[in-house]
Amino acid sequence: EAEKKKQIRVWCDGCYDMVHFGHANSLRQAKALGAYLIVGVHTDEEITKHKGPPVYTEEERYKMVRAIKWVDEVVEGAPYVTTLETLDKYNCDFCVHGDDITMTADGVDTYHLVKEAGRYKEVKRTAGVSTTDLVGRMLLMTRQHFYRGQREYEVGKEGSSTMGQDSAARSPWTGCSQFLPTTQKIIQFSEGKEPKPGDRIVYVAGAFDLFHVGHLDFLEKARAEGDFLIVGLHTDPVVNSYKGKNYPIMNLHERVLSVLACKYVSEVVIGAPYVVSADLMDHFKIDIVCHGNTPIQPDSETGEDAYGIPKKRGCFKFLDSSNQMTTEKIVERIIQHRLEF
Ligand code: CTP
Ligand code: C5P
Repeated sequence: EAEKKKQIRVWCDGCYDMVHFGHANSLRQAKALGAYLIVGVHTDEEITKHKGPPVYTEEERYKMVRAIKWVDEVVEGAPYVTTLETLDKYNCDFCVHGDDITMTADGVDTYHLVKEAGRYKEVKRTAGVSTTDLVGRMLLMTRQHFYRGQREYEVGKEGSSTMGQDSAARSPWTGCSQFLPTTQKIIQFSEGKEPKPGDRIVYVAGAFDLFHVGHLDFLEKARAEGDFLIVGLHTDPVVNSYKGKNYPIMNLHERVLSVLACKYVSEVVIGAPYVVSADLMDHFKIDIVCHGNTPIQPDSETGEDAYGIPKKRGCFKFLDSSNQMTTEKIVERIIQHRLEF
């Protein structure tokens, strides 16, 4: 049985727009059904034809899927309807998809061919997250622009300026999350590995909200600084205190899973302090601390430089991801999209 599984090549395909941990979880389950996982990602043209334009470009989507740790290979521009020819071309035994029906613009099940041929397997969809849901959370931020004057849309809006000021502060939008985090899910996503003796340990910290291509380029560079990459994720109130407005859009547990799904990441600190302390550095035996090209705010309470200690120790390094993407830009794209319809 184990021998047989070693030979199995699995195929998945989809849009993978604004890749989230629900996508990652389906790829994780798909990989577990075989030994090698190939993921076909559709072009912008194909997606536009069947369900409307994606938020991310195809280049961005290819890159995001390629960085998911269970993915062995990405096929760019895979056809919307999965054919037996495609499975055969890539030598895949079967196709795996979540337990929801995907249709073409003509209302045809995109998996009817592989289903009829008995080369289709289903995995459970992750409840509580989807591209549509995330877009909804972002549009919620903007509703007052569209329906100015209607009270119901202004609930919580004053949050922007006042929210960051006490420890209970949090984004009202992460409260929309229907996802139920469990330790089981974290274990499934985690590498579960400790650094090997002599490993150079890299630490970075941030919000990593709506995990995007800018984060990815940054983490790739950070990982190249050493052998073991630890990512510290700030809590929702901390993120809110320096990002303001309605951030974060994904709550801490969701951000943990998104970051853990990335192949460059070895370990995540769940709720890392904003200021990188000596204790934290000693505890994790951190050799180098990095930060990208985004501005660094002083600590909201003490005004301290978040990287003051690693700087004093001579182990701080700026990394240029050469990528200008930010969570705010994704939100802008969505608003732009929304205005076009
Ligand atoms: N998927 C999942 N759980 C989710 C969302 C997606 O398991 N919460 C799976 C889908 O079932 C599919 C794969 O991710 O097997 C890629 O799907 P894609 O075509 O990108 O997904 P959508 O279902 O359109 O994703 P979303 O609902 O987020 O738009
Ligand atoms: O903004 P956030 O806290 O999510 O950023 C996490 C890390 O990723 C930071 O070090 C930031 O500078 C880096 N980053 C980057 N390039 C981007 C976006 C983020 O280097 N385009």
